[in-house]
Amino acid sequence: MNPAMPHPEMRIAPSLLSADFARLGEEVTAVIEAGADVIHFDVMDNHYVPNLTVGPLVCQAIKPYAVKNGQPVPIDVHLMVKPVDALIPMFAQAGASIISFHPEASEHIDRTIQLIKSLGVKAGLVLNPATPLSCLDHVLEQLDLVLLMSVNPGYGGQSFIEHVLPKIDAVRRRIDATGRDIWLEVDGGVKADNAQRVGSAGADTLVAGSAVFSGGRYQESIEAIRSNALAGLRSRRAQPERLPDDA
Ligand code: DX5
Ligand code: ZN
Repeated sequence: MNPAMPHPEMRIAPSLLSADFARLGEEVTAVIEAGADVIHFDVMDNHYVPNLTVGPLVCQAIKPYAVKNGQPVPIDVHLMVKPVDALIPMFAQAGASIISFHPEASEHIDRTIQLIKSLGVKAGLVLNPATPLSCLDHVLEQLDLVLLMSVNPGYGGQSFIEHVLPKIDAVRRRIDATGRDIWLEVDGGVKADNAQRVGSAGADTLVAGSAVFSGGRYQESIEAIRSNALAGLRSRRAQPERLPDDA
């Protein structure tokens, strides 16, 4: 495999929310050297969610660090802001590779997806633990990524909500039915000890904030999450018709 390419089966996306904000560029370099495939960038507005984080200037500042062997590493911008449309061109300009938004934050979901794509950026829709899968009706085929929250958005370091597992499986089946290469990303409380179940449920991209940054051993943490998730994915492939709760 070309080391600049993302892992073909299970991408790991460290969330910078748990990084040292005084040294963000170095932190981006460190997690990429440790094996990160994607940089997850959480934007919170103190309105849609209680917390307040960073904006397009910080995305632009880390962009030169999001590189491996001369190739760009995708910056996955997770917008927890409402309303969302006005910020999208700013993040596209700042170097976002993927922009994801919550349906509750847009008056016109289809229009927001078109806006992201018109700027040459991949588009993602984010579903909170209680947001129904019907939000994907009529738009799934236009998306490049579905991001399923396994915590309620707003903070790093929360506990994984187990009842999201069957939802991951349901989205995996819907994505497979489209025949399109739509990433299925899971965000919130993902750690080495639940990654096997998350992979078994059908995720192919795992966000991990505190699990990567808090221990200090980035490579060890990333590889533990990835190898457990891959074990789950392979068990799923071996038994494609079993129920997700058997994981
Ligand atoms: C939560 C954010 C997550 C968060 C994940 O609202 O969207 O990306 O940083 O952090 P952990 O992995 O610590 O739950
Ligand atoms: Zn996030």
